[in-house]
Amino acid sequence: TSCNVAVVGATGAVGETMLKVLAERKFPIGKLHVLASERSAGEKLEYEGKTIVVEDLALFDPAGVDIALFSAGGSVSKQYAPKFAAAGAVVIDNSSAFRYDDDIPLVVSEVNPEAAKNRPRGIIANPNCSTMQMLVALAPIHRQAKIERINVATYQSVSGTGKRAMEELGKQTAALLSFQQIDPQVYPVQIAFNVIPHGGDFTDNGYTTEEMKLVWETRKILGDDSIGVNATVVRVPVFYGHSEAVHIETRDKLSAADARALLEKAPGVVVVDEPVNGGYPTPVTHASGQDPVFVGRIREDISHPRGLSLWVVSDNIRKGAATNAVQLAELVWNER
Ligand code: A2P
Repeated sequence: TSCNVAVVGATGAVGETMLKVLAERKFPIGKLHVLASERSAGEKLEYEGKTIVVEDLALFDPAGVDIALFSAGGSVSKQYAPKFAAAGAVVIDNSSAFRYDDDIPLVVSEVNPEAAKNRPRGIIANPNCSTMQMLVALAPIHRQAKIERINVATYQSVSGTGKRAMEELGKQTAALLSFQQIDPQVYPVQIAFNVIPHGGDFTDNGYTTEEMKLVWETRKILGDDSIGVNATVVRVPVFYGHSEAVHIETRDKLSAADARALLEKAPGVVVVDEPVNGGYPTPVTHASGQDPVFVGRIREDISHPRGLSLWVVSDNIRKGAATNAVQLAELVWNER
């Protein structure tokens, strides 16, 4: 039998990729609905050679939908995800609207897939892109040697902010190269040829919301509230692919060689780690358009007896959002 699927936010950066990944992975789709706001209702999208018309979410009746993939922002999820769930759909929500609720599972398919089964509200949350890739790489190390503390600085691409941010980077870059200037609109300051240590909103403790997501989501997904996480989130002028400089301290000593061996057999991970020119992953050379989480620069921290440093790169729109959501849809559909 086949699954009736709705993609909410289908015209956005993540929604478009959800459709692409559903097709690539040959998800057994029966009826497919692509939904967005009234702004793009009536537009036409392609799916596997067929034309599908974008429907207005506000006018849509969710009856008969088996699985709904949401990526249209937190307020849309808050308003509509419960309605889809009440109509019988399992909602896989890419926003942060439900991630921190105790009765909503937060699932990385390679890390805690069993958690997806327990969904009293019919909603499964898809983690934040930066947490997603970090935990695909760190979960095998945590299981082996128990991670006590994580220090991470991210280098996040603009696609994570959405399509308008990608346009802003493109236009600003072109303008500056021809000695013109375009004022920032999406980001608080110029993003072209710059780096911005600010993602989301500032919170009372001096961290930003994007930084605190790494703290809360790591603990929830690994089921371990004792892990210390100290994050600095930085936006960089890259279109696709987030990078992370990750420094961990483990309870048990783990050598770089042992960590490399663990990661080489970890699901969803590709190790690219040679101490030569280009012997490490970057967004452009490895991650962009791909599903794996690429790990390189694995080394023992010379400043700490049980410290390890790693460089973790992945496509934030694919594994960081769309691919994991489709993997969760596969888990749900395969429960039958
Ligand atoms: P639309 O194209 O109609 O604006 P991105 O993150 O790339 O900016 O994409 C956001 C996605 O969420 C788009 O598909 C957008 O649709 C959709 N969206 C935004 N607001 C709403 C809303 N109020 N109702 C339905 N879809 C929405």
